[in-house]
Amino acid sequence: MARPSKKFVCQSCGAVSTRWAGKCDSCGAWNSLAEEAGETGGIGGRPNLKIVKTAPAGLVSLQGSSAEIPRIRSGIGEFDLVCGGGLVPGSALLIGGDPGIGKSTLLLQAAAAIAKKGGRVVYFSGEEAVAQVRLRAARLGLAGAPVELGAETDMAAILAALSEGETPQFVIIDSIQTLWDGALDSAPGTVSQVRATAQGLIRFAKSRGTAVALIGHVTKDGQIAGPRVVEHMVDTVMYFEGERGHQYRILRTVKNRFGPADEIGVFEMGDGGLAEVKNPSQLFLSTRSESQPGSAVYAGMEGTRPVLMEIQALVAPSPLGTPRRAVVGWDGARLAMVLAVLEARCGVRMSGHDVYLNVAGGLRINEPAADLAVAAALVSSLTGAELPKDEVWFGEISLSGAVRPVGHAAARLREARKLGFERATLAAQPDGKALPVPERMRLDTCHSLADLTARIAANAPRVNDRDPEPLS
Ligand code: TYD
Ligand code: MG
Repeated sequence: MARPSKKFVCQSCGAVSTRWAGKCDSCGAWNSLAEEAGETGGIGGRPNLKIVKTAPAGLVSLQGSSAEIPRIRSGIGEFDLVCGGGLVPGSALLIGGDPGIGKSTLLLQAAAAIAKKGGRVVYFSGEEAVAQVRLRAARLGLAGAPVELGAETDMAAILAALSEGETPQFVIIDSIQTLWDGALDSAPGTVSQVRATAQGLIRFAKSRGTAVALIGHVTKDGQIAGPRVVEHMVDTVMYFEGERGHQYRILRTVKNRFGPADEIGVFEMGDGGLAEVKNPSQLFLSTRSESQPGSAVYAGMEGTRPVLMEIQALVAPSPLGTPRRAVVGWDGARLAMVLAVLEARCGVRMSGHDVYLNVAGGLRINEPAADLAVAAALVSSLTGAELPKDEVWFGEISLSGAVRPVGHAAARLREARKLGFERATLAAQPDGKALPVPERMRLDTCHSLADLTARIAANAPRVNDRDPEPLS
């Protein structure tokens, strides 16, 4: 009999090596290699079967009609939207997030909603005892929902339970890090275990047409623990995020084989669990104070829908040799770039000032389209010139100081108009193409950042009214 081989697996990227080393050759992480006993088989711990004779794989042409993918809708609008219109039978979903953010609550609510519509839904909790899950269900008013509940972490037992009786429509595993596969002797939560158990569940999902949701914990540095390895195996990867101290939570897809990635769903955590927020723009703007220098409203896109957010900047003279730059909700490197362009192309000096930038409400913006709103907020704060309260901003700034147009301008304008904004500053459209402008909305096109700074500075309060902050 072959001696079981020893191997060392990087717990950060999953790379396998035969010898221990302090640093992973593959991803460069330090001290991440852990010894795991070699599996006796191939992927997923299945023994390598001798290949006797295999029928050739069937090949077809690209052409041909395929039926529209059927969807399992939960009726929780935001959840269905983020899934791309509902769960897809036979697909695997990974939901990551910090501990305590509400992953179990969200999936219990989705499970109950789907079960009430008649499908068989099974919830396996490896983290909480049955009594705890029941208590939560009672608190959410879902105790009557026909969800089958199991507190089990052994893969084989889970698969056996799922194979018995009616084929489940939706299965939830809370969490993938607690599962273990008896064929491997490494501990639950290690890369081999997570990979093998996820593979087993995905195989079950594909073969039986069940939608499987795997809950995964996020480590300190933001990855779903251990498994990058799981991200490429599943069909959909979502993160459940939220700021501590804020009531609302954002469910965001980062990968979706059956719908748009980057879609967001917004929920509010309350006493009765997670409630949908149908109009996120309203929520993010609700805390907006009276017009203040340094506040600009950005018309952004999150996935397929437009969302308005307030960008707040504070520029204050710095007592420090190296002024402080602090950013919440945006990219620090991008802020440095906008500051450099303001300084080099528009003569706006900020090198003696501390700069603080905040996206109100705790949302994180990833689009370069926010450049223009950020620049407007910065200049407004520096000069003390208030920006009009009914104006939105969007556009990308290039290193030359030019303002470039961004996609989905029409959708952004519509959303702004819907929420009562009557003005928008944006880049000129390419080739002079006309934009469909909503009724009673005025567009100010802006070609360069220098234009914009001059325009904002023109509204600055007179020097006698306040402490002067020279533009250049
Ligand atoms: P939970 O779903 O257990 O988080 P996760 O599975 O991501 O670790 O959520 C726990 C948090 O949610 C906890 O801090 C309490 C809060 N919560 C409410 O505020 N209201 C509720 O109705 C429920 C069920 C939880
Ligand atoms: Mg949980």
